[in-house]
Amino acid sequence: MIKLKDVDKFIDSKYQRTFILKGIDLEIKQGEFVTIMGPSGAGKSTVMNIIGMLDEPSQGEYYFLDEPIHKMKERKRSELHKHHIGFVFQAYHLIDELTVYENIETPLLYKGVKSSERKSLVAEMLDRFQMVAKKDLFPEQLSGGQQQLVGVARALIGQPKLLLADEPTGNLHSDQAEEIMKLFQKLNSEGMTIVQVTHSKENAAYGKRTINIVDGAIDTDSTH
Ligand SMILES: Nc1ncnc2c1ncn2[C@@H]1O[C@H](COP(=O)(O)OP(=O)(O)OP(=O)(O)O)[C@@H](O)[C@H]1O
Ligand SMILES: [Mg+2]
Repeated sequence: MIKLKDVDKFIDSKYQRTFILKGIDLEIKQGEFVTIMGPSGAGKSTVMNIIGMLDEPSQGEYYFLDEPIHKMKERKRSELHKHHIGFVFQAYHLIDELTVYENIETPLLYKGVKSSERKSLVAEMLDRFQMVAKKDLFPEQLSGGQQQLVGVARALIGQPKLLLADEPTGNLHSDQAEEIMKLFQKLNSEGMTIVQVTHSKENAAYGKRTINIVDGAIDTDSTH
């Protein structure tokens, strides 16, 4: 599903080139549940953003579903992102001015899904996440754990093939984190491909493969 070939990410200033990623070779198959770990500043979020098509490599090749993303124009890339990728962020990134219902609905508006279908998809998601009673509340009226559930619901509403989560439980208490991890485990058992970044060994244990990134390169890659 995902293939990175010799990917570099660097930033050029007048006198020097600073590498954020160097020589990343990575293959992830449909149905995997992969955890990316590594020290702060190692390049984990940069890898996630490249996989999620929010950023692009400086050099190297990226294939998603066998399509060469590195050759695509911004517009085509953003179409692929919208249709195939759900992204969950550490800081939730919900829109404060929108209700729970509207936050979850947003990706469907971007995708141009028609009103009646939007209604039924959002209703289904609210039901699944047991948030029907909270649908008219605003993010600030929810606990952190509930906000992240909305973040996950929003990531899933477009029925993506790939769920990316960059430290999704970084701001949560351990019981809230466990709820999110159990949800990921269930989604993965239903076939969802998941790549998560975490600093927590407990969270990593929910995945089936752990990749360690150190100084912009893959240090270890093990299946468990
Ligand atoms: N746009 C940018 N300009 C300059 N440096 C950047 C930019 N984006 C990232 N970096 C640098 O690249 C390195 C990797 O950043 P990245 O956010 O990928 O790390 P991370 O592994 O996700 O760290 P953390 O665990 O703290 O989230 C850091 O040193 C960061 O300062
Ligand atoms: Mg990061």
